[in-house]
Amino acid sequence: MEGSLPLRVVQLTKTFSGSSDFITVLQGIEYSFSRQKTYAITGASGSGKSTFIHILGGLDQPTTGTVMLGNVSVSSLTAQERALKIGLVFQYPYLIKEISVLENIMITAIIAGDSWSDAQRKALELLKRVGLAAMGSWEVGRLSGGQKQRVALARALITKPEFLLADELTGSLDHETGLEVMELVLSCVKEWQMGLIISTHNPEIARMMQLVFSLKDGILIATES
Ligand SMILES: Nc1ncnc2c1ncn2[C@@H]1O[C@H](COP(=O)(O)OP(=O)(O)OP(=O)(O)O)[C@@H](O)[C@H]1O
Ligand SMILES: [Mg+2]
Repeated sequence: MEGSLPLRVVQLTKTFSGSSDFITVLQGIEYSFSRQKTYAITGASGSGKSTFIHILGGLDQPTTGTVMLGNVSVSSLTAQERALKIGLVFQYPYLIKEISVLENIMITAIIAGDSWSDAQRKALELLKRVGLAAMGSWEVGRLSGGQKQRVALARALITKPEFLLADELTGSLDHETGLEVMELVLSCVKEWQMGLIISTHNPEIARMMQLVFSLKDGILIATES
């Protein structure tokens, strides 16, 4: 089945160049992420978690190596293909203030090629799924931090992507709200059979994943969970 193909990282390195020096953040990562599993990426601040997630999602290019989604290089995906296959969420929701909650969720479906009415129908479903059914017409500014993350999650999930990549999704939420958002993420991931890769500083959230890795010295190390 085409949909079960892994997200495969092949000899990935990433070096940033400053004005007078270079910093190599990723030193040759080799791994295959399965759609049937959930993964945590932990590691000290500056260890490269965000860099890694961004490259996995095609938001940044590796210096050497490739990220393959099935047989296709992630960096060669069009915006439309990426919207269909990879969902992304971050520490901050990055919602657009000028449009409604519902329209924020619709954006990914529109990029993926849906008509306005299909995108609207799917966004309403997702809004319900994340527990915000009554808030579609609201301005984004009226939402709490946890509600905004639910909207960002709905926006990432509206195309039922193959993988959901989450960079510190709960990093700016209080403990309880963070756990609620994680429960929601895990139930959606299970329901739609997506692979999940989440970076986190929080050991409790890391332990909610089936496999836990630590990024250290640019290498991905499996840790006991
Ligand atoms: N665009 C960039 N240009 C130069 N250096 C960068 C750039 N992006 C990241 N870096 C450097 O790469 C290293 C890894 O950064 P990254 O943000 O991936 O770490 P992180 O593990 O996500 O940290 P945190 O836990 O604080 O979010 C840091 O030393 C950072 O300064
Ligand atoms: Mg980071």
